[in-house]
Amino acid sequence: MNILVLHGPNLNMLGVREPGVYGHDTLEDINLRLENMAIDEGIEIRIIQSNHEGELVDEIQRAHGWAAGILINPAAYTHTSIAIRDAITAVGLPAIEIHLSNVHARENFRHHSYIAPVALGQICGFGSNGYILGLRALIDHLNSKE
Ligand code: DQA
Repeated sequence: MNILVLHGPNLNMLGVREPGVYGHDTLEDINLRLENMAIDEGIEIRIIQSNHEGELVDEIQRAHGWAAGILINPAAYTHTSIAIRDAITAVGLPAIEIHLSNVHARENFRHHSYIAPVALGQICGFGSNGYILGLRALIDHLNSKE
């Protein structure tokens, strides 16, 4: 089983960026936890972070034919990007949307997600643990379909 993990803009700044909102874990800490979980589960993951919308679209397209599912924190593009939403729809892969913070308890502009309607589900508000919960949910979903 292959899974693509995508981190959107500014998530490379985790650890430094607003720790009161996003926690103290760095992106490397999160990726290490995901990689260890992938080894334990016997699956393969590819992890990409990009600050550029088009690159995220390219990676989603590249997942077609390789990945069985996508774990994505689109970051600020959650609230703006029809292109990322369309890419997810285009490849037809189950995607789980992750947010470290509880976006629904924050500013109004963070309450709307372009991605949520085309995602399998959304996990938010559990900090970096959300990625682990999301990977668990995606693996279980894919196994239940076999
Ligand atoms: C975020 C929430 C977004 O609103 C914000 O733009 C981010 C991070 C989160 O993980 O909580 O960059 O996706």
